[in-house]
Amino acid sequence: MNITLSIIYLVATVTFVFGLKLLGHPETAKKGNITSAFGMGLAIIGTLFLGEHTASPLVYGLIIGALVVGGIIGGVIAVKVQMTKMPELVSLFNGFGGGSAAIIGLLEYQGNAGNMSQMATILSAIAVGGITLSGSSVAWAKLSGKLRKNIRLPKYNFINNIFFLAIVIAIGFMVANNIVSPIWLWGIFVASLVYGVLFVIPIGGADMPVVISLLNSFSGIGAAIAGVLYGNMIMLVGGILVGAAGIILTFVMCNAMNRPLSNVIFGAFGTGADAELGGSKHQGTLKKTSPSDTAVLMNYADSVVIVPGYGLAVSQAQHVIHELEELLTEKGVDVSYAIHPVAGRMPGHMNVLLAESNVAYDKLIEMDDINPKFANTDVVLVVGANDVVNPAAKTSPGSPIYGMPILEVENAKTIIVNKRSMNAGYAGIENELFFNSKTSMLFGDAKKMLTELVSELKNM
Ligand code: TAP
Repeated sequence: MNITLSIIYLVATVTFVFGLKLLGHPETAKKGNITSAFGMGLAIIGTLFLGEHTASPLVYGLIIGALVVGGIIGGVIAVKVQMTKMPELVSLFNGFGGGSAAIIGLLEYQGNAGNMSQMATILSAIAVGGITLSGSSVAWAKLSGKLRKNIRLPKYNFINNIFFLAIVIAIGFMVANNIVSPIWLWGIFVASLVYGVLFVIPIGGADMPVVISLLNSFSGIGAAIAGVLYGNMIMLVGGILVGAAGIILTFVMCNAMNRPLSNVIFGAFGTGADAELGGSKHQGTLKKTSPSDTAVLMNYADSVVIVPGYGLAVSQAQHVIHELEELLTEKGVDVSYAIHPVAGRMPGHMNVLLAESNVAYDKLIEMDDINPKFANTDVVLVVGANDVVNPAAKTSPGSPIYGMPILEVENAKTIIVNKRSMNAGYAGIENELFFNSKTSMLFGDAKKMLTELVSELKNM
C-alpha cells in the first residue's frame, strides 16, 4: 500500500475513534459526528484515487455517481427525519450495511471459489449480511408500525436455533469440503435471510431497542468481514468499531432492561401475558387535576423532579418544559430531570431532546442517581412517560417489562402524570401508578398542558 494512503487510513482511524469518544456526550456529539464523517470522506477519496487498483473511467463514473446520489438521498432523509423516527432510520441503515456485505460476498464468490480461507470469509459475509438485511427490514417494519404483530411460530425458539446452527454447519461443510456450488451459495444466502426474519419477528414490546443495537453491531461485523476480504484496513477498522460500539450499547441496554444477552440471541423476548393489552383494565380510582391546581402545588414545593418520556418528544414540548424549569427555579424550587436509559425511542433520546432547548446537562440526573432522591421529592411531574415509571416492572412477573429497572416515582410525596388518555405506552400494558393514591392525572397534550401550567405559574 502506498505511504500516502497508509497515512490517510491512519488519520481516518483516529477520527473514527476520536469521533466515537465525542459522541459519548450530548454537548460534543455533533462534533463527533462531523469528525468521523470527515475521516470517512477522506478514506473514501484515498481508496478511490490512491488504491492499488485500476478501473475504467466508466467504473469511476459509476462510483462517483452512486456516492452523489446516495449522499443526496441520505442528506435529505437525515435533515427531514423526526427525532422520534430515528430508530426506524437506524434500522434501515443497518439493513443497507448488511445488504452491502452480502452483495460483496455474492460478487466475490465467483473469483475466489476454491480458495478455502477466502471462501470462509465470503460465506460469513453472506450469512451475517443476509441476517442483518432481513432482520433490520423486519425491525424497520415493526418500528414504523407497518408490522404490528409479534408473530411466533410453534416452537419458534427451537426452530430458530436449529436454523442458525444449520447455517453455521453448512458454511463449515462447504469450506471443509471445498464445495463450489451456486446452489449451496444461494441456499446459504436465502437461509440467512429467512433466519433474520425468524430472529426478529417474534420480538416486540420494550425489547426492540436491544435488537436494533444488536443488528447495528452485526452490520459492523459484516463490514469488517468485507474489509478482511478486500484486505482493506480502514473497512476492517470501521467495521470493528461499529461492531464493538453496537455490542457495548447492546449490553448497556440489556442492563437497563435487565435482560441477559443470551436471551436476546437464543430466545425471543419482549412479550408476556399482558403484552397485547391495549388500554387499562385496572379497577382503581383515578384522580384528575388541572394546570391551575398543578401550578399551585409546584409553586409551594421545595423540590420538583420532571420525568420526560416519549410523549414529550411527540408533542415537541422540550422548549416549554425548559421554560417551566426556569420559572420554578426563579421561584426558589429545586428542579431536576430524571432520565431513564430507554425513555423515548432511541438511546439518549431525552438527553438530545432537552439539549435542543438548552437545558443544563447537570440538571439531567440518571436513573440510579435520582431513584434514592424520590422519597424526599415534593412533586414529580411525569410528562409523556409511561413504561419507564411503571411499577409492574417490579411487581408483575407476567409483565413484558418485568425486571426492567424503572424510575421509582411512586416514592415521591405527590405525582402528577401528564398524558392525553389512558392509552398504554410502547410495551402495551396498563400502569398501576396512575391509580396510586398519591397520583393525579393531568390529561392533555404535553405542550398545551405545560404552556397552561407556565402561564398559571407566571400569574402567581
Ligand atoms: P411510553 O411508555 O411509550 O409512553 C409514552 C406515553 O406518552 C404514552 O402512554 C402516551 O399516552 C403519551 N403521549 C403520547 N403523545 C403524547 C402527547 N402529545 N402529549 C402527552 N403525552 C403523550 O414512553 P416511555 O415511558 O418514554 O418509555 C419508552 C418505551 O419505549 C419503553 O418501553 C422502551 O423500552 C421503548 N423503546 C425505547 C427505545 C429507546 S432506545 N429509548 C427504543 C424503542 C422502544 P397517551 O397516548 O395517553 O397520550
